[in-house]
Amino acid sequence: MASQAILLLLLAHFIRQVPEINAKIPAIIVFGDSTVDSGNNNEISTVLKSNFEPYGRDFPGRKPTGRFSNGRLATDFLSEALGIKPAIPPYLDPAYDISEFATGVCFASAGTGYDNATSDVLSVIPLWKELEYYKEYQGKLRKYLGNEKANQLLSKALHLISIGTNDFLENYYVSSNRSSEYSVGEYQNFLIGIATDFINHLYQLGARKISIIGLAPMGCVPLERTTNILFGRKCIEAYNNVAKDFNKKLQGSIMKLQKELDGIQLVLADAYDFVLEMIDNPNSFGFDDVETACCGTGYIEMSYMCNRGSLFTCSDANKYMFWDSFHPTEKTNSIVADYLFKNYLAQFKNDSPQFKNDSAPFKNDSFSLTMSYMPFCIFVVYTTINRFLA
Ligand SMILES: *[C@@H]1O[C@H](CO)[C@@H](O)[C@H](O)[C@H]1NC(C)=O
Ligand SMILES: *[C@@H]1O[C@H](CO)[C@@H](O)[C@H](O)[C@H]1NC(C)=O
Ligand SMILES: *[C@@H]1O[C@H](CO)[C@@H](O)[C@H](O)[C@H]1NC(C)=O
Ligand SMILES: *[C@@H]1O[C@H](CO)[C@@H](O)[C@H](O)[C@H]1NC(C)=O
Repeated sequence: MASQAILLLLLAHFIRQVPEINAKIPAIIVFGDSTVDSGNNNEISTVLKSNFEPYGRDFPGRKPTGRFSNGRLATDFLSEALGIKPAIPPYLDPAYDISEFATGVCFASAGTGYDNATSDVLSVIPLWKELEYYKEYQGKLRKYLGNEKANQLLSKALHLISIGTNDFLENYYVSSNRSSEYSVGEYQNFLIGIATDFINHLYQLGARKISIIGLAPMGCVPLERTTNILFGRKCIEAYNNVAKDFNKKLQGSIMKLQKELDGIQLVLADAYDFVLEMIDNPNSFGFDDVETACCGTGYIEMSYMCNRGSLFTCSDANKYMFWDSFHPTEKTNSIVADYLFKNYLAQFKNDSPQFKNDSAPFKNDSFSLTMSYMPFCIFVVYTTINRFLA
């Protein structure tokens, strides 16, 4: 019996040392702008809101949550695809607490940008403040889970960033300040410098799985098409090119960061070409209209201008690529999320070797593989010996 107890202790010891082999993503943590804001702007004083009908009319419970769409956002679909939960709660909403936020939290704020001057335009939450909230969140998480578990969760959580459109469309091309200070190329570099700092900060705070969603062809949103009315409401090519260039530059910085930051899994999730494909082939994605939005006339309405009194709002948003003049429908969000998941984000579920330093040996991998077999071996030995002792 004594030997049995010793073996049991030994077994328990080895089991406890086994690293987690199921590399499931435990949480999704979101930063950015209206493309991913699930309701933080409801809690601040700004005119940029969407917590009223008809926003959210296809959300479960027909609820206007503050998401800038008729239903869920791409990040909600991604969270679901990762097996976490169907909707990511906004950090500032007092209806949720750390037990909810521990599996997913959104710090995003509609109207914000990389540039502090962008968030000033509509008095929304600047990116640096989103990072402050993230630090506060980490504190709450450590209290809730304990240091060790919290740190492990943070290193395994997927950190998603979707931001940058407003820096150009709400700031650079609209207010003269930045465009008199910087050429477009210089402004892109300025923003990418901020993006780089932001990723460095996340890394220092313990994040290891990070994806930035690239800019979409922003010259094709209905509002920009409307400003191009003299040219038949075509996409504004100049803006699309700025987005494409920006993504290219961002990819360059990301590759540098991948080399500098040991153990980081960092990916630019770029749907630019895919979204253009949707615009060029609406029918193959089930859309009737990719040029005007569902809400109101579809030319200019968004935020308070898209409301219950808006005339001409469409009855079936699934036929439209855009919900309001600036934001996609839930259907578009789900198609884009599916594309991003399959092409960029599914790999975060594994600690994929492609992220490892190629010239370094996979020492830890083989170690953890051995360790995962260890309890099984010990169990076999244990039961065999046990049979002899019996
Ligand atoms: C943005 O504002 C914050 C807070 O004032 C400041 O710490 C940060 O340096 C600013 N960022 C830039 C790029 O100026
Ligand atoms: C733009 O520049 C003017 C004059 O320098 C300044 O007063 C104003 O605050 C600036 N606006 C923004 C949004 O930075
Ligand atoms: C990759 O591994 C090689 C050899 O172990 C090492 O010299 C190099 O610094 C590593 N690079 C990074 C980015 O970790
Ligand atoms: C292996 O893992 C240990 C502990 O997790 C870490 O300190 C070490 O740097 C890792 N080695 C390699 C080659 O990644």
